[in-house]
Order: sequence, then C-alpha cells, then structure tokens
Amino acid sequence: MKNGNNQNNLLVKIKSKKITIGVIGIGYVGLPLALEYAKKDINTIGFDVDNNKIEQLNKGKNYNQDLDSKEVKKCVNARFLSATNDFLKLKSCDVIFICVPTPFTPNKEPDISYIIESSGTIAKYLKKNQLIILKSTTFPGTTEKYIKPILEKTGLKAGKDFFLAFSPERIDPGNKKWTTSNTPVVVGGLTKTCTELACAVTSLAIEKVVPVNSPSIAEMEKLLENIFRSVNIALVNELAQLGDRIGVNIWEVIDAASTKPFGFMPFYPGPGIGGHCILIDPYYLAWMAREYDFVTNFITLAAEINEYMPFYVRNMVVNEIAKQNVNIKNAKVLILGVAFKKDVDDLRHSPALKVAELLQKDKIGKISYYDPYIASIKINGKTYKSEKLLDSSVLKKYDIIIITTDHTVFDFDLIAKNSKVVIDTRNACRKIKNRRNIILLGDGK
Ligand SMILES: NC(=O)c1ccc[n+]([C@@H]2O[C@H](COP(=O)([O-])OP(=O)(O)OC[C@H]3O[C@@H](n4cnc5c(N)ncnc54)[C@H](O)[C@@H]3O)[C@@H](O)[C@H]2O)c1
Repeated sequence: MKNGNNQNNLLVKIKSKKITIGVIGIGYVGLPLALEYAKKDINTIGFDVDNNKIEQLNKGKNYNQDLDSKEVKKCVNARFLSATNDFLKLKSCDVIFICVPTPFTPNKEPDISYIIESSGTIAKYLKKNQLIILKSTTFPGTTEKYIKPILEKTGLKAGKDFFLAFSPERIDPGNKKWTTSNTPVVVGGLTKTCTELACAVTSLAIEKVVPVNSPSIAEMEKLLENIFRSVNIALVNELAQLGDRIGVNIWEVIDAASTKPFGFMPFYPGPGIGGHCILIDPYYLAWMAREYDFVTNFITLAAEINEYMPFYVRNMVVNEIAKQNVNIKNAKVLILGVAFKKDVDDLRHSPALKVAELLQKDKIGKISYYDPYIASIKINGKTYKSEKLLDSSVLKKYDIIIITTDHTVFDFDLIAKNSKVVIDTRNACRKIKNRRNIILLGDGK
C-alpha cells in the first residue's frame, strides 16, 4: 500500500509537470534532453563536472550545434534551465537522468566508471520516491547488476522506495528531421511501476514512448541498433575493396540495389567509422558475451573490416603520390573534414584522425587539414590548425586532397576544379562531371 502511494504520488506529480528534472552529464545527449523538459516549463537542472559547460549554460549560451540558441537562452532566462556542479541539488530532483560517457579502454573493454561514479553520487543524496533513468549506452545488466546495488546500499529498495529504469538515447547529431523530441524512445523499468513512471516522465518531452519488459531488453536493443549499423557498414566497406579489385563501382551497385522497394536498406562505404557510438558500442556486447563463453563473430568481423578502412585510405594516398612527380615525404596532403561525420563538430574517434595519424607516423606527405567546425586537432602530441578557408589558391597548394568528411558546406565543384588529385572516400563528388582528377574509394578504377 505504501509502495502504491509512492508510485501514485510521483505519477500525479509527473502528470502535473510540477517536478524537478535532474540531468547528470549535459553533453551531446544530456543538454538536448534537458532543453526538451525546460521548453515544457519544467524546472530542469543540468549537473556536470565540466565548469565550462556550466558557465556557458548559466549565461544562456548554447554550445550544441543542433540546438536553437534562442530557445536555450529563453529557457535559461525563464529559469526553467540551469546548470551546476553542486550535486547536493540532486536532493531537489524528482527524476534524475544519467547521460554520462561510456567509452572503452585502450584495449577496447567497456569503461562504465562514469556510470558507477554518478550512481555513487546519486546514492549520497537518494531519497524516497525519486526516479532514476540511465540513458548512457551500455551492456545488458548494467542497470540491474551495477546501478541497483549501489543505490540500494542506502537501505532504500528499488521498485519500492525509489524507481529505476534504462532508456537508451537515439539522438543523431546533425539530423534535422529526427530530433530528440520526435524520435521514439524505448523504456525498460526494473518493475512494471518503474516502467510506468519512466514512460510517464519521458512522454512529457518525447512524442512516442515504447515500453519494454526489462532494463536489459532496452540496454540490448540499443546495442542491436548500433551493431546493425556497424555490420552493414562493414559489409559495404568490404564490397568497396572488392569493387576496387574487380573493377566494379560499389556506389552504383548500392544505388541499383536501393531501387528494390523492400528488404534492402542502403549503407555506404567510407574511411572508417567514428563517434561515441557505432565504433564503441559493439565492443560492449562482445566483451560481455565472453563472460558467457560466447564469441560474437559478426561484431568482431565487422570491427576488423571497419578498422582497416583508414589503412586502406592511407594506401590510396601512397598510390596517388607515387603517380606524381613529388617525393613521398614532401607531398602536400590536405585532409578535408575531420569531424567523424558530416555537419557535426564532434571529433571523437574520427576516422579522419586515424588517417592523419597513419600518414604522420609513416611520414607520408606533409599533412594539413580543413574543417570549418574544428579549429585545431592534435595528432601524436602535435597540434595542427585548420586552414582558415577553402578557396582555389588554398586548394592549388596541395598535391593530394582527401575528402574524409563530406560536410554540406563544402563546395565540391570548386574542390574538384582546383585540386591536382582528390581522393574521395565519401562519394562527395558524385555530381562532378569532369572526373579526370577524382579517385573514388570503391569505384573500381
Ligand atoms: N552523442 C551521441 O550521438 C549519442 C547518441 C546516443 C547515445 N549516446 C550515449 O550517451 C552517453 C553520453 O554521450 P554524449 O555524447 O552525450 O557524451 P558527452 O561527452 O558529450 O557528454 C557527457 C557529459 O558528462 C559529463 N560528465 C562526465 N562525468 C561526469 C560526472 N561524474 N558527473 C557529471 N557529469 C559528468 C561530461 O563532462 C560531459 O559533459 C554515452 O553513453 C553515449 O554512448 C550518445
């Protein structure tokens, strides 16, 4: 009965929107989520250890490319959105989302230390009736086997005194069509009540909420989404290499296959995969499976193929320099786009960085780069600053241009017209008619 009361009180409070939301980790995932609640006039506090983010947000300054700066300012000015590093304020929150990083170690094993640390912090201030929702991507069992025991050390019981759920994030930075609010969200609570409460609070900000029967299902479905992408990208990366070998253009093959109205979904080759998700997440499941004497062959094979792609691009660069009248050490190489995908300012695990690192390490050319979204990069301790702009005189300086990220703002016509050789790893120059200097990954030439 008491349990029922806790649940009812919180449900009523959630439905009335008279709640305070806490979001731990206000990065690429946490800030957009916090903003959605603040936009609904719900008191929302972002917790972070990065004082720079806290300062900026409290001044009403937006640091996320995808968000509307006016909306951020409006919510901060209206006092619906604030940020702090004072975790004592967790006490005032009815619902706490955990949106901290889940990276891997240098040996590619899951690092859930940020989740563990945040759970410990929540436990310090945990009070009855709070609802905790983990959003960080992780292996199945994290919510139940790692977070729950930490929170229950307080003496409070999950599903009875406080509520716990996992709800994966699907945000796709740079995607204008599918945003935080209109992308369906999966929710798996520890108990039915936990799911019901987590669905209720999620549906305040998200248009469609999909309940599932446990946190582990939600944890694993997120990994399936990302592994699905990793495996399919690996497939076309392998076929791109085959296309080059046998003289068949894989891009045209994919276009042709895409005309099938059912049972086929196009994926495209490239210089490798990056970011904080598709590269990392498959390893979470592969690592976990080993505990059960199970080898996830698809995941391992896909990772192997995808991780080879920067090496493949490196070899393309060597081949093209060899055709020119320039010493391999002195060839001027411009890497175009270093963000891990188009139209974002996120550098994490970018394949372009790996390409740059391989060229630098093997002393293949003198590398420079241009990316309007990233002012500087560091490779093996050496800092490189982006070319300031990309005009014909800049392009003409270089022996090789490598398109590693096909930002929409790039003028590929200008690039093709004014470059000696363009190595296109994204088929960014697909519309260029005069292809005398374009070397396309996977075009079979
Ligand atoms: N970026 C994406 O596109 C995306 C998409 C889906 C899921 N995810 C998942 O979401 C999670 C977060 O990713 P992200 O891209 O937002 O990472 P991020 O690095 O952009 O943000 C994480 C934030 O957490 C903060 N933080 C670290 N430790 C903290 C602590 N102890 N207390 C409070 N704050 C702390 C960091 O300072 C940072 O601001 C990861 O698990 C990731 O796999 C990310």
